[in-house]
Amino acid sequence: MTTVLRAHAEDQYAEELAILAKDDDRVRPPGWKLSPWAVTTYILGDGDQITPKYIGPRRIVEVAVATLATDRALLLLGVPGTAKTWLSEHLAAAISGDSTLLVQGTAGTAEEAIRYGWNYARLLSEGPSRQALTPSPVMRAMAEGRIARVEELTRMPSDVQDALITVLSEKTLPIPELNEEVQASRGFNIIATANDRDRGVNDLSSALRRRFNTVVLPVPATAEEEVDIVSRRVDQLGRSLELPQTMTGLEEIRRVVTVFRELRTGVTEDGRTKVKSPSGTLSTAEAISVLTNGIALAAHFGDGVLRPSDVAAGIVGAVVQDPVSDRVVWREYLETVVRERQDWRDFYRACRDAG
Ligand SMILES: Nc1ncnc2c1ncn2[C@@H]1O[C@H](COP(=O)(O)OP(=O)(O)OP(=O)(O)O)[C@@H](O)[C@H]1O
Ligand SMILES: [Mg+2]
Repeated sequence: MTTVLRAHAEDQYAEELAILAKDDDRVRPPGWKLSPWAVTTYILGDGDQITPKYIGPRRIVEVAVATLATDRALLLLGVPGTAKTWLSEHLAAAISGDSTLLVQGTAGTAEEAIRYGWNYARLLSEGPSRQALTPSPVMRAMAEGRIARVEELTRMPSDVQDALITVLSEKTLPIPELNEEVQASRGFNIIATANDRDRGVNDLSSALRRRFNTVVLPVPATAEEEVDIVSRRVDQLGRSLELPQTMTGLEEIRRVVTVFRELRTGVTEDGRTKVKSPSGTLSTAEAISVLTNGIALAAHFGDGVLRPSDVAAGIVGAVVQDPVSDRVVWREYLETVVRERQDWRDFYRACRDAG
């Protein structure tokens, strides 16, 4: 057991990656640690020793992996909480054995994050040299033939985004100050993620868009699928946070997922009643954190069994983002839908008490 709060995917799943590498006799693209087939198995699991990381359509993962074996980069697009970041980390771990070459896109991301910067102390004392240069994660990925990850690509200013064009089309990064360049080694590619909701923030230029294959990650198709995702992740998180063992009723998970799905889609599961949707996203990721919080409450302050009162406050917090309009939406849902369900009595009371 290490003391890091969250191990990188390649460390946490080192054993699974080793098992796959040992038996992998399929063709590996240059610079890859595993064949595309084995990478896909790592992501989706094999029902035996390899646990599923991403739960969703196989074809989506195959297209993503195949893209990375070509000269085009991969753009994972989707609404918040659809596992874009999660999938990109695991893809980089399986392909390069390294998921840490990461650029976080924000409004303040500078070109140095894509290209390179300088160690000014050395620059002033020695003048421009390779030693005075501080490479970006992208530059290191090029030199080492690995995958670089760019998170929230569309949040970066357009001119910074465009620094990727030369990298992706010419596969080189010029360093005019030294009259040199870094050429990409085989195995280099980029996985970027972008949020659907951010559309229009800093839209990708068409020149850049042409260099990416876009894969859209869907929200879970059915309630069963979403319950499956949530229960697996809650279980993993609980173990890695070393929360005391709790009886996690599948029933409670199903209820949280049902509430989230009904509010998200604007209609009850049986299709009979229309409900209003609140302003927040109510993603799968939020359902996971509501339940993880609930388990911590049950374990430390309750009797070790996850009860409606342990999840109620979390649900209300996730739903009511706008204190005025969302509260109205939530009240209405509570009184017209939750209250009518015979086996949801405790849950109804807990939600009322939670405000
Ligand atoms: N289909 C899925 N399979 C496995 N895990 C999932 C799935 N959907 C969501 N998750 C879980 O949801 C959590 C959040 O996912 P992640 O942070 O990757 O979302 P995101 O799409 O990057 O969201 P954002 O747009 O907010 O950055 C992760 O813990 C992930 O395991
Ligand atoms: Mg993300």
